[in-house]
Amino acid sequence: MTLAILAHTQHGCQGSSARTRGWRKGESSELEHEELRNYCVQILRRYELPEGIIDHSRRVARVAEFIADKLKASGYSVDTGNVVAGALLHDIGKSKIHKRRSAVNHAEASAEIVIREGLEELAPIVSRHILDAIISENHPPLTWEEKTVFYADKIVTHKLVSLEERFNDLLERRLDIKHLLNAAYKPTKALESEVLRSAGISWEDLKARLAEE
Ligand SMILES: [Fe+2]
Repeated sequence: MTLAILAHTQHGCQGSSARTRGWRKGESSELEHEELRNYCVQILRRYELPEGIIDHSRRVARVAEFIADKLKASGYSVDTGNVVAGALLHDIGKSKIHKRRSAVNHAEASAEIVIREGLEELAPIVSRHILDAIISENHPPLTWEEKTVFYADKIVTHKLVSLEERFNDLLERRLDIKHLLNAAYKPTKALESEVLRSAGISWEDLKARLAEE
């Protein structure tokens, strides 16, 4: 992320001008992370995302940041700024004011929006956060940023929940996606094991540190 984002937000420019600005790749500072985070919050407001979804997205971002920090501490290369930004914007495609182009679901709509807002690097993170992605051969979460946001979203509703609780709750309420839930549970559980093992933490650690989420 570059300071161009700050200039971009201050002048309220969007669309093609944001796309052409892009942002610098590589190591980013705490200040840049904060600017990117603030920019994402502005986008959430500008697209008039309902408060409930904004609240969920903030919680997902806090859990994802905690996991990303642990992964980094364990020696893995993770861009925490992109993890937090991707988590904040993963559901932006649910915006009612966004006119979808080719997006067939809210994750692809989220990707359309982050690209439009000059945050292209977040597109794979937001487009791969849904259950359809994890059972897909050519579209599963692959990078640590993608895996972290995918997993954090699965253990956060309006509070921190276990994967089992989340899937059971969905199975009770969403008979229309029962097949998807059954197919996605095993690979999601495997991803959870990989993420937690790599981060050197357990589910109990997450619960103890983030129970208020
Ligand atoms: Fe979500």
